[in-house]
Amino acid sequence: MTTKLTERSEWKALESHCSEIKDAHMRDLFADASRAARFTLKAEDLLLDYSKNRITAETMGKLVALAESADLKKWIEAMFTGEKINATEDRAVLHVALRAPKDAVIEVDGENVVPAVHAVLDQMAACSGQIRSGEWKGHTGKPIRNIVNIGIGGSDLGPVMAYEALKPYSQRDLNIVFVSNVDGTHIAEALQGLDAEETLFIVASKTFTTQETMTNAHSARSWCLDALKDEAAIAKHFVALSTNADAVSEFGIDTANMFAFWDWVGGRYSLTSAIGLPLMIAIGADNYTELLAGYHKMDVHFRTAPFAENMPVILALLGIWYNNFFGADSQAILPYDQYMSRFAAYFQQGDMESNGKYISRSGEKVEWQTGPIIWGEPGTNGQHAFYQLIHQGTKLIPCDFIGFCKSQNPIGDHHVKLMANFFAQTQALAFGKTAESLEAEGVPAELIPHKTFEGNRPTNSIMAEKLTPSVLGQLVALYEHKIFVQGIIWDIYSFDQWGVELGKILAKAILPELEAESALAHDASTNALIEYFRANK
Ligand code: F6P
Repeated sequence: MTTKLTERSEWKALESHCSEIKDAHMRDLFADASRAARFTLKAEDLLLDYSKNRITAETMGKLVALAESADLKKWIEAMFTGEKINATEDRAVLHVALRAPKDAVIEVDGENVVPAVHAVLDQMAACSGQIRSGEWKGHTGKPIRNIVNIGIGGSDLGPVMAYEALKPYSQRDLNIVFVSNVDGTHIAEALQGLDAEETLFIVASKTFTTQETMTNAHSARSWCLDALKDEAAIAKHFVALSTNADAVSEFGIDTANMFAFWDWVGGRYSLTSAIGLPLMIAIGADNYTELLAGYHKMDVHFRTAPFAENMPVILALLGIWYNNFFGADSQAILPYDQYMSRFAAYFQQGDMESNGKYISRSGEKVEWQTGPIIWGEPGTNGQHAFYQLIHQGTKLIPCDFIGFCKSQNPIGDHHVKLMANFFAQTQALAFGKTAESLEAEGVPAELIPHKTFEGNRPTNSIMAEKLTPSVLGQLVALYEHKIFVQGIIWDIYSFDQWGVELGKILAKAILPELEAESALAHDASTNALIEYFRANK
């Protein structure tokens, strides 16, 4: 067993190193002409410039030593070889198998899972081909024009994010909508104006028991039957993405219309499982294959590159540097691409549901910070909303800027303006603006403190030539593996999510109390709120 994180010499070395360099300013660090090149990394189609961080070569060496002290190499191999590293659920963690090539061999309990993965991919390709070509007909013989994906959390955020990101690759005459919230408003608005004869529902749920999804699925079923007036219509208008065949057939969906996945796929890591079906329908099997190939490239990089040149490892270590040694609570993800508008929201679940844990793998309360708060919006909108606080607030917020050289929509000078803002923001955050330069510009003395920018605010710049399916796959895998590395170093289990259970159980108990006038036995606040609801509903 490894020594407790904060007692390791590698941790202590970082603590004392931090107290030595925490006041070093990037203005001075950049006096070294080789700095930008030294702290720039290329992996496949991605470029990471991490020179605008409060680090030196010594910092990076010490962070890499910390990763080694956590047996990271061993854990990476354990994940890739199907060991049951999700110990509290006794499961392997094999989202990497979902994008492995056909001839790969990855075993769980002595069985190679890769052939089953490719069988489902083939089934998805056949279904999406039929829908895209109009060959899949609804109950009354009309082709499908609307796809309504019903799912929540990992069964929603990934497909939504990737559908938005890859919209330029999508078949535009298909209307793809996503329903997640149990609030009836979500499905009511999504179904507005849709013709049931041309609508296919995809019920996406790993467990097929999630309250929100099952409630929406039953409402969709009623809506469909009200319009088509025939139970036999369900076979043509509903498919399921799930690990739970019994619950799927109990709902009334023929298991021939079920696309399977497995308990070794975590919900928030399931985008490349059957959960990707709405995306494949949108962009087609060829683009989807390119997306998987992109993921796989990053998987191979992560598994094989030395830590000092390993992009997910470097991002993870920089995150730990600020989270644990500078006391930064949050991390912003700022894509300068409108198509990436849901990327931060996707990794809000990916990161916070994975690493929002205070119990260590040995079952004790940790004595160090774990997962950060993840948030963000696309640039430049964020600049006109919350960047003020990043520049001049009292909190340190490390930011990942993500941008592309080529636009999918090269209209006039929009793209150069967009990217000029990207570069300007990272520059301003790092170098700020001094009182002396304001004075030289003739700024009145009383305004100088207000107009001064301290700078020294860390950013990573992640760039690629263009947001292609392959590049999106590389980016998602980059962040997935970053989260993995951090979880290993923080000594927590990243692949369970027990913290979501209590609320679900309590909601189940409260539900009948909202429908009947039974006696209430909660705390005084909850009782009063329920009574107010009952009196005014
Ligand atoms: O929020 C908890 C959670 O279990 C997530 O991990 C998961 O992505 C989501 O619910 C949806 O679960 P399911 O796909 O089983 O409906």
